[in-house]
Amino acid sequence: MPAQSMEELVALCKRRGFVFQASEIYGGLQGIYDYGPLGVELKNNLKAAWWRAMVHERDDVEGLDSAILTNPNVLRYSGHEDTFSDPLVDCRTCKSRWREDHLHGEFCPHCGSPDLTDARPFNLMFKTNVGPVEDASAFAYLRPETAQSIFTNFKNVLDSTSAKLPFGIAQIGKAFRNEITPRNFVFRVREFEQMELEFFVEPGTDEDWHERWVEERLAWWREQGIDGNRLRLLRVPDDELAHYSKQTVDVMYHFPHGIEELEGIANRTDFDLGSHTKNQRSLDITAAVLPNRDSNARLAVQRQSDKRWMVPFVIEPSAGVDRGVLAVLNEAYNVETLANGSQRTLLSLQPHLAPVKAAVLPLKRNHDGIVATARAIKASLTKLGLGRILFENTGNIGKGYRRHDEVGTPLCITVDHQTLDDNAVTVRDRDTMHQERVNTTALADYLRERLA
Ligand code: GAP
Repeated sequence: MPAQSMEELVALCKRRGFVFQASEIYGGLQGIYDYGPLGVELKNNLKAAWWRAMVHERDDVEGLDSAILTNPNVLRYSGHEDTFSDPLVDCRTCKSRWREDHLHGEFCPHCGSPDLTDARPFNLMFKTNVGPVEDASAFAYLRPETAQSIFTNFKNVLDSTSAKLPFGIAQIGKAFRNEITPRNFVFRVREFEQMELEFFVEPGTDEDWHERWVEERLAWWREQGIDGNRLRLLRVPDDELAHYSKQTVDVMYHFPHGIEELEGIANRTDFDLGSHTKNQRSLDITAAVLPNRDSNARLAVQRQSDKRWMVPFVIEPSAGVDRGVLAVLNEAYNVETLANGSQRTLLSLQPHLAPVKAAVLPLKRNHDGIVATARAIKASLTKLGLGRILFENTGNIGKGYRRHDEVGTPLCITVDHQTLDDNAVTVRDRDTMHQERVNTTALADYLRERLA
């Protein structure tokens, strides 16, 4: 059973150190969050799982880590300066501002007034000054998607690797959008992370590749522990497509606040590479927005068969890390009633996502032999490279078990008096609460198998 409400998740995240309000001691900053000690581990594990599936396990994808600050021309030719906006409505009575498509009816959701302005476009991109001179032209954008720098680096990657079509470039990184109404915890925020793949293909093969990527991405989300019943595919209606898209399929998830987009998989055609290419007219480009006078690049490849230059089409699976974290937390969350009538909160995260893989707990916090053995076990298990193994010397095993159930630690390893005689420890399973004795010489293999 996932969480019954967003409030349950928010409370757990704050209590156990997954997510905090940013700048909290100064009253916070709306739509901006910080990830705490467990949140950063969970987030890193989710990103690592994506990178493994999208880059390491494939031979047709290369990685990239590009800058956040972006030359305005990139976002001019990409079409973002003109079109990356949401419809903004002001309430004349209480002065609050709303995204038109988030209004329910014709009244202000804050004060109920019907006195609303007509909608006008509000560009979502953040700007910042570059360099010491306060000159209106010396500015850069904080990127609103990681994708554009993949397009602007297309030639660099092509020339520095042996990549041939079809191939992709993957990137994980921050993106910024000045959302009119950030809401629903980390679901809609102003600073977030994306995991994006731009997969370049020959025109004509794009629709097949689009379908393949939709299937691949759906399967990947299931591997992260998301129940298929709470995942849906939505074909975005033509009149709601982004300016660059020929077709988009959204992976929708049943979040605590409703069914909403987790990932978008778009067929961006040759729009972006074409738009960033100089002299488009000499190329076979159909969709470029502007004749490009500023770029010096030809973001095209020579077709193997007839050596003609062509601009590849691109299929783009684009997932939000923060929405991913919210979805896996929601899926894993459970409150169980035990046989004795008490309740325990349980986070049944997939082992590869769990922030802490195993906690090593000495039964007695002041017993030198037990504590030293526990420390040595932690040190040797950490060397396995399975992720975070925690040594925790509170002396209260029952409380330790409850806390680790709540943060999703798959295994707790207790070192007791008997360990000093028989070299065995008690290993407790998070989900079943089953306990078994395991010899420390077999512990490494045991963990490898259980956490695989
Ligand atoms: N490059 C394509 C692109 O950016 P998008 O649908 O605007 O497409 C892709 O964003 C993903 O990024 C979304 O599916 C969502 O997971 C995430 N995302 C977008 N805006 C977000 C926001 N304000 N807060 C959190 N995540 C967001």
